[in-house]
Amino acid sequence: MSTEQLLHAQAHVWNHLFSFVNSMSLKCAVELGIPDIIHNHAKPISLSQLVHALSIPKVKSHFVHRLMRILIHSEFFVKVDVSDEEEATEHYWLTPASLLLLRNAPLSVAPFVPLVLDPNMTEPFDHLSEWLTSQRHSSPFELVHGRVLFEHLGQQPVLNNLYNEATSSDSRLLTHVLLRDYKQVFEGIKSLVDVGGGTGTTAKAIADAFPDMKCSVLDLPHVVGGLEGTNNFTYVAGDMFETIPSADVVFLKWILHDWNDEDCIKILKKCKEAITVDDKKGGKVIVIDMILDVHGIENEVRKSHLLFDITVLGYYNGKERTEKEFAKLFFNAGFTSYKITPAFELGTQAIPTKHPRLLYDDLHEVSSVI
Ligand SMILES: C[S@@+](CC[C@H](N)C(=O)[O-])C[C@H]1O[C@@H](n2cnc3c(N)ncnc32)[C@H](O)[C@@H]1O
Repeated sequence: MSTEQLLHAQAHVWNHLFSFVNSMSLKCAVELGIPDIIHNHAKPISLSQLVHALSIPKVKSHFVHRLMRILIHSEFFVKVDVSDEEEATEHYWLTPASLLLLRNAPLSVAPFVPLVLDPNMTEPFDHLSEWLTSQRHSSPFELVHGRVLFEHLGQQPVLNNLYNEATSSDSRLLTHVLLRDYKQVFEGIKSLVDVGGGTGTTAKAIADAFPDMKCSVLDLPHVVGGLEGTNNFTYVAGDMFETIPSADVVFLKWILHDWNDEDCIKILKKCKEAITVDDKKGGKVIVIDMILDVHGIENEVRKSHLLFDITVLGYYNGKERTEKEFAKLFFNAGFTSYKITPAFELGTQAIPTKHPRLLYDDLHEVSSVI
């Protein structure tokens, strides 16, 4: 190896070993509310203005410069030169990524920060090799906590709340796109059940957009217990492996990637039993999940897919899947056809990037339903 190659390889190793420092720096910035401070300032903010707004001890103010420097490198902020009367000084401004981390923005994904970086959620990844070589544990999460994630959440109200807030924030973002660009998917549907629909963000938005549709959310009692529905929207506490309430359409968002193939087939079979009408009348299962190895996918998106794949492994022993792997599940569950609706192209000001998700719109034959 040449010296250049050697040093490059070493930097590559360092960057990966220390990449948790990127996550923790981002967590620090979000906990301190830096994106909101800059946003509320309404124009690029100088270091001294930011330090002042943060109310941190003066002796630590230099740290803010270092924190911002690494977060500029990782594209959460940009440096802008602003000239005042005397000289140009360094100011900071937001990027599309930090716009998504504003606490009260309608499409904020900020609730993922405290969840994903909570020690309860990171510790399983410290035990991946131990889990891989052990016969006993169903998932790295179960190895560490002694019970599977959904049971653990049922016993840990604070973590349960973080989890539900995070998944709801994703649902808000997704529903925004779904009802703006894919509204036709829901036209003519009389009833829909969102299976594992969390606290109901998606189903409630669909029910509001289609007042004649009856919508419900099926989820575990620790998620939906005590929540109140509206006119055309109800909560059902239950277990999708036992019964799914009947509906024209079963909606599954971020469910299949939580489970192994065998469990996915069980869930899909229960979905099929729940569908009350044939496909000509709109009977279908709508699956929303990411698809691995899509041709031409950009590298940034592919990286997030691969990280998600290991994440769902650590949490649930779940997996992200290729189209072929999805098709196998659908056919093994008794569906006879499926249709993929292309990836979302988000074009709003807040998120001018491609969203790494695909929408499956799984239509099945009349005979396979009833
Ligand atoms: C990854 S979250 C997805 C939540 C929601 N669909 C979304 O995308 O925001 C998985 C959901 O499945 C629910 N869940 C897990 N096991 C379940 C079961 N046996 N029956 C019903 N819901 C279940 C969890 O409580 C959780 O809300």
